[in-house]
Amino acid sequence: MTPPHHPVNFAVLLLFLCLPAVPPAAAAADPTPTPWPPQFHATLVMDYHGNMSVADLWYDWPGGRNLHVIRYQLAADAPYYDNEWNNGTSFFYTPALRTCRSAAVGVGILRPDWLRPGAVYLGRRDAGGFDCHVWAKADFITYYEDVNTKRPVKWVFYTGP
Ligand SMILES: *[C@@H]1O[C@H](CO)[C@@H](O)[C@H](O)[C@H]1NC(C)=O
Ligand SMILES: *[C@@H]1O[C@H](CO)[C@@H](O)[C@H](O)[C@H]1NC(C)=O
Repeated sequence: MTPPHHPVNFAVLLLFLCLPAVPPAAAAADPTPTPWPPQFHATLVMDYHGNMSVADLWYDWPGGRNLHVIRYQLAADAPYYDNEWNNGTSFFYTPALRTCRSAAVGVGILRPDWLRPGAVYLGRRDAGGFDCHVWAKADFITYYEDVNTKRPVKWVFYTGP
């Protein structure tokens, strides 16, 4: 479905076209990524080289913590917990198997506006039927955000060859 044409946007576009010579400033019109809410719950479908999982993510910036509960397709009855703290410590545990380890990962959780610094706008693309703004950052992530709702739709991490 095509969104209805918006006369205000059209007027703004005409204004830019009528300005004399401001080519570098045109880049300032690129959309910027919407910061994450300080707290949210999201359900993620993840594909790690064909290793499929469904994860619940609880993001808690004021609490300085981030919890992924990951259910791998081939081990769905033994969810894997990845619990990250802003002091740089992470805990990884599988309660069903009574296994646990911790790691000093050295970095905290992602800031709500983590994507914005250095993000390069790539334009609009379809992602599974969602009309999205797309940004790349530092050649390691491509991030898709719904144009209308501003919600993240998909991100692709480059994890190496
Ligand atoms: C792939 O899935 C299995 C469960 O089937 C899981 O134990 C393993 O950690 C996963 N590997 C990666 C790299 O995510
Ligand atoms: C980080 O915070 C967690 C949760 O309070 C705590 O269990 C862990 O020991 C802390 N790590 C360090 C290095 O202080």
